[in-house]
Amino acid sequence: MNFASDNAAAIAPPILAAIARANAGFALGYGNDDLTKTVERRLCELFEREVAVFLVATGTAANALAIAHLTLPWGAVLCHADSHIATDEAGAPEFFGGGLKLIDLPGEAGKLAPATIAAAIAGGRGAPHAVLPSVLSLTQATEAGTVYSNDAVRELSALAHRHGLAVHMDGARFGNALVHLGCTAAEATWKAGVDVLSFGATKAGALAAEAVVFFDPKRADGMASRRKRGGHLLSKHRFLAAQFDAYLHDDLWLALARHANAAAADLARRLDVAGLTPFWPVEANEVFVALPPDVDDRLKAAGAKYYLWPAEALPASYVLKAGHRPVRLVTSFATATEDIERFAALVSGA
Ligand SMILES: Cc1ncc(COP(=O)(O)O)c(C=O)c1O
Repeated sequence: MNFASDNAAAIAPPILAAIARANAGFALGYGNDDLTKTVERRLCELFEREVAVFLVATGTAANALAIAHLTLPWGAVLCHADSHIATDEAGAPEFFGGGLKLIDLPGEAGKLAPATIAAAIAGGRGAPHAVLPSVLSLTQATEAGTVYSNDAVRELSALAHRHGLAVHMDGARFGNALVHLGCTAAEATWKAGVDVLSFGATKAGALAAEAVVFFDPKRADGMASRRKRGGHLLSKHRFLAAQFDAYLHDDLWLALARHANAAAADLARRLDVAGLTPFWPVEANEVFVALPPDVDDRLKAAGAKYYLWPAEALPASYVLKAGHRPVRLVTSFATATEDIERFAALVSGA
């Protein structure tokens, strides 16, 4: 019963097999191998346009290098207060961005609203005294397990672009979002105004592979050096590419995400029946509930794994009962129905 994170899951077997297949003979390093070229082509097909692609090994590197590339060091990045870049990257965007500033903003259910962004843009004192809002970073699916609609992304992107900001999307769980939206990868990104995507594969079943995708290749000038300087140009690059190749082959990534999302929906339904209603809509692969202390203790004693969630991050309207513990439950491509059933049974006291 491991609901700690999607990275607690193993490597999806077809991806591990692809790494093993790539482990034969010789191939040029640093992305000059055939597999890398294949993945670059595949990503152009997937996004229905020419894109510039930079594979890296972590989501933090993808976000930090992408964001650093989109702004001057005196730029500001507007992001949600609970976003991974603001809370979990140890200042990597600021470091790689030469001291850029993150401006973290509130928003219900992990999402930013147009009025909040407009106010943040209008609120600055302007150059040369204040940092200049330069990037809007949206997380899709959000850290609250919700998903922006394409219309919402379009509205936020249009607002950002009107004020000269570039739009970055942290897609560590992009597959989960896309499965929920039921649209094409192009519709969920550049057609809605996204300029650069951190396209995650690790959480969805890869060993360690993320792609920074620039929808305007011209905008990627210099990014190859930035990635190298950032220590993320892998010399044995073919093994990064092998992961992405398998991930995209026959839409494996969507099948993996569908399983994870269905597992979260199943878990949420069972918890709801047991009287624990998730405090945000379950739209991807994360479920947030407040556990009564005896239930939390019972689950922990039975070996269930999950993380507590800060009470400050709960919806403003949510009344947390005394002693109840908010938790985050994450499902993955590997979540088994039996584990969901057992967890729900323990919640019900069975
Ligand atoms: C929304 C989001 N973005 C990015 C990341 C990148 O993570 P890492 O650097 O651990 O690969 C994570 C991982 O937890 C995440 O949840």
